[in-house]
Amino acid sequence: MTKLFGLIGCPVAHSLSPQMHNDAFGNLEIDAKYHAFHVEPENLENAILGCKALQIAGFNVTIPHKVSIMKYLDDIDQLAEQIGAVNTVVNNNGRLIGYNTDGPGYVRALANIVTSQLNSKKILIIGSGGAARGIYFSLAKHGVQSIDICNRTMTTAVELVKQCQFDVQSSALTIHEAETRIPHYDIIINTTSVGMSPKTNAVPISTKNINKNHLVSDIIYNPLETKLLTEARNNGAVVQNGVDMFVCQGALAFETWTSMFPNTDRMKKIVLKKLGGTTC
Ligand code: ATR
Repeated sequence: MTKLFGLIGCPVAHSLSPQMHNDAFGNLEIDAKYHAFHVEPENLENAILGCKALQIAGFNVTIPHKVSIMKYLDDIDQLAEQIGAVNTVVNNNGRLIGYNTDGPGYVRALANIVTSQLNSKKILIIGSGGAARGIYFSLAKHGVQSIDICNRTMTTAVELVKQCQFDVQSSALTIHEAETRIPHYDIIINTTSVGMSPKTNAVPISTKNINKNHLVSDIIYNPLETKLLTEARNNGAVVQNGVDMFVCQGALAFETWTSMFPNTDRMKKIVLKKLGGTTC
């Protein structure tokens, strides 16, 4: 029987996931389909019960349900529990198990373009919201030399650093403090929405001190190249947009469901075609 997978979120109409996963199922000759389901917050519990009743084999979870879904699941993977958000669920014979592949997906995407070992890198994360949390804890779990967090609202950066249960050297900084320390870092990661369409003419941090020794990564993929990345690239830095993270979180979800790792180049081509551009 054809297995059914899906995405629950609100909105989901423009999601890039169905095409990416359906192509991977076809490519790997897995008899399965992936469909996006629009679920309003007040219907979340019923939707989860429906997934169980219909024996949906697994699903992704997106905004605004990544945190609120946790109370309806039967079990939650340890990293997802620490991150405090679930974006992937497996239906294991009627038991729904939650995972987070956003953070690990980001680490995988980053590791793919870092030429030497990630473990030796000094990292600055800009932002301390949900996305930053997943990336911070996943990088800390992977093991890197240090991770500083800077944010417009300093108190949330301080709180995030306090909550990290992994052994990593970390400080919370103001944006201004981080700007003065830019030469100290190897990798700078923007997790804020600053620069995202339609407000594309903004940068989350001054790029004045960014140079060819830096790797600058932005989790935004609309636009494909944010102003931060354009300025960093013009200063000689290596840059990465959010497409790779999106693809890798999807590939890890796919692997969690099927135990098969899909062809990420193929997934990336599909995503880029939908976004209408090339990656950087
Ligand atoms: P997400 O789940 O996508 O991370 P979030 O939890 O709302 O979303 O976090 C958004 C992050 O972007 C926060 O770090 C936020 O900073 P504040 O904590 O100060 O709100 C940051 N952010 C959003 N808009 C910003 C702006 N215009 N300037 C600077 N930082 C901004």
